[in-house]
Order: sequence, then C-alpha cells, then structure tokens
Amino acid sequence: MTLRELQLDLELDSTLLPSSVVAWINLARREIEEFWDQSSNSKKTEYVESDFEHVAEVLLHCQQKSWLACRELVEWGCGFGVVTGIAELLGLPAVGIESEGFLVEAGRRLLQKAGISAELFHGNFLPAGAAELALVEDPRVALQATMPSAYASINRPLTDFGCVFCYAWPGEEHFLKLVFDRFAAPDTLLVLYRGPYHIEVYRKL
Ligand SMILES: C[S@@+](CC[C@H](N)C(=O)[O-])C[C@H]1O[C@@H](n2cnc3c(N)ncnc32)[C@H](O)[C@@H]1O
Repeated sequence: MTLRELQLDLELDSTLLPSSVVAWINLARREIEEFWDQSSNSKKTEYVESDFEHVAEVLLHCQQKSWLACRELVEWGCGFGVVTGIAELLGLPAVGIESEGFLVEAGRRLLQKAGISAELFHGNFLPAGAAELALVEDPRVALQATMPSAYASINRPLTDFGCVFCYAWPGEEHFLKLVFDRFAAPDTLLVLYRGPYHIEVYRKL
C-alpha cells in the first residue's frame, strides 16, 4: 500500500468549532432522533453515526495543517449527510454517497432545512471493480450494497476528490484502505472514523 498515516496531535475541544458547525450538528441530531422515532426502517439499516464533533475537529485540524488540497471531500456511506454538511461549512465543497435511498432523501431534506448546498447521491461509494479487492467470502458491510457505483451520476471520478471521509465498520478498514489506495489520486487524504475517540488520517503517496 502507498498510504502514510499522519499523526493527529490535537487536543479535543469542541469549543473551537465555528458556531455554524455546532448549530448544524445540533439541528441534525434533533432531526435524526425525530426521524427514527417516526420511522420503521431503523432496524433494517447499517447506519450508525460517528462522533460529529470529533470528526469536525479532525477536519478543521487537517485544514489548519494544510493537509487538504483545495479540492472536494466525498463522504463514503454518508447516512444523513451530517459530515458532508460539516465539511461544506468548514469551506470544503463536499458530496455524500449513500446506498439507502430513504437516508439520502432524509439527508437532502435536512441539508436543505439548514441551507447547506452540499449534494447527496444515491449509489455505491465503491468505484467499479473495487469489490474484487476483497476475498469472496469476506462479509464486508460495504459490499452489501450491490447497486452501481455513484461516480457516474456525480459526473466525476473518485480521483477528482481531495479527501475521503468514511466510518468503517469494525473489520472492513483494511478493505476500505485497499480501495482508497487503488482508486484515489495521489495526495488525497483518507479520514477514517474507527470508533469513539479513534480517527485515523492517511495520505496516499
Ligand atoms: C456506519 S454508517 C456511517 C454514517 C455517516 N458516515 C456517519 O459518519 O455518521 C455507514 C453508512 O454507509 C452506508 N453504506 C455501506 N456500504 C455502502 C456502499 N458500498 N455504498 C454506499 N453506502 C454504503 C450504510 O448504509 C450506512 O448508512
């Protein structure tokens, strides 16, 4: 692999986040809770959300360290698009890709309510041919989406993006790193959410 891990030397302090980001996270949490209260889909999805404040702090840190080329972020498996919205508010144009249609629709409504112009796309975040990088018998969550890759509808290949954010399910991080390594452009950052207080950042060499 040609990925180099970048060391995050940041003290977590959500008071440093822009007020627009804090307001967006609070709105999103309220709306998502209400959505699940009224939805019958909650048990049928692979959706689990990341720690939005922590992700926002890491994206801000990446910006302050000038690790991010001035290019777009793509959120792989965006759910309601909360991280996509955070990136946009931090000045990184962003798109989200999600395989569950009902999450894409709810996310679009949520972003619109907050006046955030980032777009969410229904489809597979895996580029065509990426699934072959996994062993056939591997039960990867990301492989359960069998729909076509979303990059044709975004009208841009993965290589146009300067940063990929992904919440990897336990056990699938190696596969996702392989996909990123094989298909992203050199210099692109991979921000991988691994669980509470655990985010890793890689640069493709
Ligand atoms: C663990 S959730 C993370 C949600 C959000 N990114 C966050 O950080 O809060 C993973 C999401 O990825 C979606 N997903 C899984 N595999 C996918 C694929 N191959 N293409 C698109 N979406 C996928 C799931 O439906 C789920 O909503």
